[in-house]
Amino acid sequence: MAHFEDATNEYSTIHSSFEGEVLSRLRRDTWLSTTKPQMLSDPIQGRFLSTITKMIRPLKILELGAFTGYSTICLSEGLEKGGVIDTVEINDELQDMHEKYFHEAGIVESVNIHYGHALDVINSGELKGPYDMVWIDADKEHQIEYVKFAISKLRVGGWLLVDNVIWGGAVLDKKKLSNLDSGASRIHRLNQYISCCEDVENVLLPVWDGVQILRKL
Ligand SMILES: C[S@@+](CC[C@H](N)C(=O)[O-])C[C@H]1O[C@@H](n2cnc3c(N)ncnc32)[C@H](O)[C@@H]1O
Repeated sequence: MAHFEDATNEYSTIHSSFEGEVLSRLRRDTWLSTTKPQMLSDPIQGRFLSTITKMIRPLKILELGAFTGYSTICLSEGLEKGGVIDTVEINDELQDMHEKYFHEAGIVESVNIHYGHALDVINSGELKGPYDMVWIDADKEHQIEYVKFAISKLRVGGWLLVDNVIWGGAVLDKKKLSNLDSGASRIHRLNQYISCCEDVENVLLPVWDGVQILRKL
């Protein structure tokens, strides 16, 4: 998720629930020990994911792009008893952090971590589904393949959330859109695909860097 350090975001964070001690320490550790800590979700974005799972009460969640596991822990907060999260992460150097913080959050038994490129994990057949909820926050090059896979693996009535669909406003930039290889163009095509897809209904929320919320019909 992008980080809009604006006054509204700060005000919203102050007036939302605290992320909790474990996530707070994980945030600090991520900033101290990884090379791209800005990839981490903001506290308010984490509370958003937690709240959504508490509304849906999923038994089975799929996450693409775990990073240090912050969003995985947030997603686990609304998991039904006995539920599981399949999470996919290309960077296996993060394994120690995953083990440490999933243990501290008490979710080791609920999380299956799949290390590798999401496309390879998808093609391996490891991700069985059907899922009640999918959260996509990995690389942006293959978003459309991830979205198509997620829709195919969601149960009817299941929910799919896709991050970064405004791409810092680039999807509105005609010059960037004219380059069909640009990130803006790819994400614009993704948004068009979603809005025309007859298997889902959706809303594109213009918050943070843009979040698509889809429901499988
Ligand atoms: C924006 S970060 C995810 C942030 C995390 N969801 C959070 O909220 O803290 C994107 C993550 O996707 C991972 N990633 C990038 N390309 C990937 C790929 N092809 N397959 C799986 N993971 C990938 C990166 O290593 C990074 O950890």
